[in-house]
Amino acid sequence: MLTLHSPLDMHVHLRQGDMLSLVAPHTARSFAAAVVMPNLTPPVTTMAQVREYRQAILQAAGRPFTPLMTLFFREYSRAELEEARPHVIGVKLYPAGMTTNSEAGLADMDRAAPTLEIMEDLGLPLLIHGEGCGFVMDREAEFLPVVERWARAFPKLRIVLEHVTTVDGVALLDRCDNVFATVTLHHLLMTLDDVIGGLMRPHLFCKPVAKRPEDRAALREAALNHPKAFFGSDTAPHPVSAKEAPGCAAGIFSAPVALPALTALFEELGALDRLQAFVSDRACAAYAFAPPEREVVLERRAWTVPERFGPVVPYLAGQTLNWKVVG
Ligand code: NCD
Ligand code: ZN
Repeated sequence: MLTLHSPLDMHVHLRQGDMLSLVAPHTARSFAAAVVMPNLTPPVTTMAQVREYRQAILQAAGRPFTPLMTLFFREYSRAELEEARPHVIGVKLYPAGMTTNSEAGLADMDRAAPTLEIMEDLGLPLLIHGEGCGFVMDREAEFLPVVERWARAFPKLRIVLEHVTTVDGVALLDRCDNVFATVTLHHLLMTLDDVIGGLMRPHLFCKPVAKRPEDRAALREAALNHPKAFFGSDTAPHPVSAKEAPGCAAGIFSAPVALPALTALFEELGALDRLQAFVSDRACAAYAFAPPEREVVLERRAWTVPERFGPVVPYLAGQTLNWKVVG
């Protein structure tokens, strides 16, 4: 048995409507709280939307669960952000068109400064989808200078480089005190070879794409040991019709397997004692917040991951996992 205190998933896509009802219970089952991404259609850019979305999530979760809400980055006034501050954990910036529902994202990075200055002042963290628009394997590295520039221009602004995938991304944590990173389960487990090295696996396709073995090694090292790296699954469900299609949607639905598979990985790496830090303590330190109290228990018990949850194929479908969330 393993007991985790207030495990947190610091990056989730819970969607809307029927998909929200289907996926929210999976996140709520394993995690005390989760940071909810705002890339809905339309994106979450007003407090009315934040309130309405939060209510819908609480209703869909079906048990005590804390959604930590975010706003979709645009140019905001001080009054807007002052009103939002007590209700959101941060503002998520997407470069325009980089991933699912990011068409309304930022096209010109130079226009971010006035809003970032207000966020710094109000202590409102910036969450970044850190990819430029160059060659797909280099997009994260290409975007890092922008992150570094902002980190230096706004030294009190806490910046989270979401779903970090590269050696270079991890290295930025050591150069900038105010930069943190989330790490996904799937980027800890796979490389680009798993996605396209053999037959193409649409259910393993996500943004940012999985990278090289040396990148995965750096992510594992960070997950185990880096005080500024913490868990964010980036669970991102799409229906089978959108995944098994000529234009495959980016996103991996990992919520049902996230905690069991992470536990198995940490055990395999001889680091079970560091799981608590990765799935909760470091995130609380980064965001300077106290998590809602909840203990989540995992048992050593084999189970087979279902092939489908409704219209969605989960990550690790059909595989047997040796840890199970109980209760
Ligand atoms: C996410 C989604 O589907 O909303 N997709 C993904 O591949 N990760 C968006 C994102 O986080 O990039
Ligand atoms: Zn995401």
